[in-house]
Amino acid sequence: MKIIVTGGCGFIGSNLVRHLLDSPEHEVLNLDKLTYAGNPHSLADLADDPRPARPRHLDLPARDPR
Ligand SMILES: NC(=O)c1ccc[n+]([C@@H]2O[C@H](COP(=O)([O-])OP(=O)(O)OC[C@H]3O[C@@H](n4cnc5c(N)ncnc54)[C@H](O)[C@@H]3O)[C@@H](O)[C@H]2O)c1
Repeated sequence: MKIIVTGGCGFIGSNLVRHLLDSPEHEVLNLDKLTYAGNPHSLADLADDPRPARPRHLDLPARDPR
């Protein structure tokens, strides 16, 4: 399954990414705004995993503008 995780460089998100990648059938796209709380090194141990779990920076609005 292909799964998008937001905030995957944070405390809960990084553990979720790691848990999902324990299953070989999952691919994870991690979209993280990399705020002060985001640490891209929290997923450094997955750097050799060929599946795309490494963070992509995404500057999402904090609130729905509508
Ligand atoms: N840790 C807890 O015990 C706990 C308990 C209840 C609820 N929550 C909620 O769960 C969520 C995650 O908690 P956490 O402890 O992992 O937080 P955290 O601060 O460790 O991580 C949050 C991550 O989200 C990223 N982020 C922030 N805004 C973003 C955006 N607009 N788009 C994409 N990424 C964004 C940050 O860069 C960071 O990597 C928070 O909303 C928190 O309020 C946490």
